[in-house]
Amino acid sequence: MRTLVFEADRGTCARDCLDGEPERARGAREGLASEISREVVGRSVEMTAVWATPRVGTAVRAARAADPRAIDGRFPRPFLYRAAVPTASTIADPPAALLDLLACPLSGEPLRLEGDMRRGRLVSPAGRAYPVIGGVPRLLPPDLLGPFLERAFPDVLDDPAVAETVAGAAPPDAAVLETLVAYDYQHVELADAVLPVDEWRATWSRFQPGIEPRAFAGQTVLEVGCGEGRHAWLVGEQAGGLVGLDLSRGVEVARQRDRRRNTLYVQGDLHRPPLRPGAFDALYSNGVLHHTPDPRAAFDAVTPLVRPGGRVFVWVYGLDGMAWWYRASHLTWLRPLSNRLPRPAQVALAAAGTAALEAGVWLPARALRRVGLDHVAERLPFADAADRPLQAKLRRVFDRLNPPVTHYLDADALRGWFAAFDDVAIVDAAGQGWSARGRVPTP
Ligand SMILES: C[S@@+](CC[C@H](N)C(=O)[O-])C[C@H]1O[C@@H](n2cnc3c(N)ncnc32)[C@H](O)[C@@H]1O
Repeated sequence: MRTLVFEADRGTCARDCLDGEPERARGAREGLASEISREVVGRSVEMTAVWATPRVGTAVRAARAADPRAIDGRFPRPFLYRAAVPTASTIADPPAALLDLLACPLSGEPLRLEGDMRRGRLVSPAGRAYPVIGGVPRLLPPDLLGPFLERAFPDVLDDPAVAETVAGAAPPDAAVLETLVAYDYQHVELADAVLPVDEWRATWSRFQPGIEPRAFAGQTVLEVGCGEGRHAWLVGEQAGGLVGLDLSRGVEVARQRDRRRNTLYVQGDLHRPPLRPGAFDALYSNGVLHHTPDPRAAFDAVTPLVRPGGRVFVWVYGLDGMAWWYRASHLTWLRPLSNRLPRPAQVALAAAGTAALEAGVWLPARALRRVGLDHVAERLPFADAADRPLQAKLRRVFDRLNPPVTHYLDADALRGWFAAFDDVAIVDAAGQGWSARGRVPTP
C-alpha cells in the first residue's frame, strides 16, 4: 500500500497517485496534518499537505522504516523542507469587503477581480493588471513586480495585460529588491514543516507585551510584513477581517496554511502599499520596519492606512540597553559579510551556528529539564527553542545572517515616530527589542 503523506512540488507526483488517493490521504491525515489537498495540474498531480503537528514527521519516518515503499513523494526530506505554492481548489474568493481594501500601488485606484483567486488578476480602471497566483494578489509596484515574476513565475508574463503593466518600469530600489529575494528564500526554501501554533501563542507577548490578539476582536486589521503569517494566524482568529501584507513569497506559505475567509494575504511593498488609506481599525508590524532602508519613512508610509482613532503597534530591533545575550545574538559584526554570501554558504554558516547552540544551550537545556531542573534550564538564553525541530532552529540563526538591511532603533527614535499620535507607549520588550504603540489622532 502506498500512503501519500507529503508536500510535493509541481510534478513530483505522477498520474498513478490518483487511484484511490483521497482515501489514503485521509487516513494519513488523521490527527497529523490539518489539510491535504490534491489537484491535477497539466499531466501531473500536485499534493499539498499543511502540517499541523511535529508528530507527522515521526509517523512518516515510522511508516517508511516499516515499508520503504509505503511513502511516495519527497517528504520528509532529511533536512530541509520547502513550501509549495498553494494551488488547491479549496482557495475561495474572499468576501468583497476584503477585496475592497485593495488598491493599485501606483495610483491608489480600486481594483476589480477578473477570473478567480487561484489564477486571476486584479485590474485598475487605468488598465494596470496585477496577477493573483495561488490565492495571493501580487500587488507589487510594477518596478518590483517585473523582476519578481521573471524569477518566480515567468509564465505569468505571457499575459499581455501583466506584461504591459511591468513594461518600461523604472529600475527598482536595489535594497528592497534584495530584501524580497532574501526573504523569498527564507520563507519558501526554509519554511517550517509544521505549524507551531502553540509556540506562536507563547511568543506573541514577546513582540506585543500586554496586548492579546483578542484586543483586535471584530476589527479590520492590517499586518505589515506578515512573513509566513504566524501572527496573522493568531490575530485572524479574532479579527473581523485581516490583511497580511508582505514583500516576499512568505504570503504564499501564509495562504497555504490559513484558508480562513476573513484573512487575505497580499504581496506588496509597504513603501507603496496597495491598500486604501484610512481603511483599517488597527495595524501591527513585528520585526519588519528595521529591515527597510529608512525605517521612519516606512512607518510614515503605512500609518495613513489606519483610520483616525485607530491603533498602531510596531515591534523593532533595539541594541543599546537590551539583554547582553540578545545583543550578542544579532551578530552585528558578521551580518555585513554574511548577508552577501551565496545562499549555500549562508545555510552552512547557519548550520554551524545551530550546531554550536545545540551543543552549548539546547542539549543542556533538555538535559536539565529531564532531571527536573526546569527553572535552571529556563535561564539559559534561547532555551525556549530547545525542543523545536532542527530546521526551525536553523531558520532562527539564518534570520540573523540573511537580511540585506538591518537597523537598530532606540526609545527616542520611536518617540519621534509617534510624536503626532495619542496614547503613546514605548515598551522595552523584555530586553529583546522595542514595542511601540499609539492611537492615530482624531481631527
Ligand atoms: C523578520 S521577518 C518578520 C516576519 C513576521 N512579521 C514574523 O514576525 O514572523 C521580516 C519580514 O518583513 C518583510 N519585509 C521587508 N521589507 C518589506 C517591505 N518593503 N514591504 C513589505 N514587507 C517587507 C520581509 O519580506 C519579511 O517577511
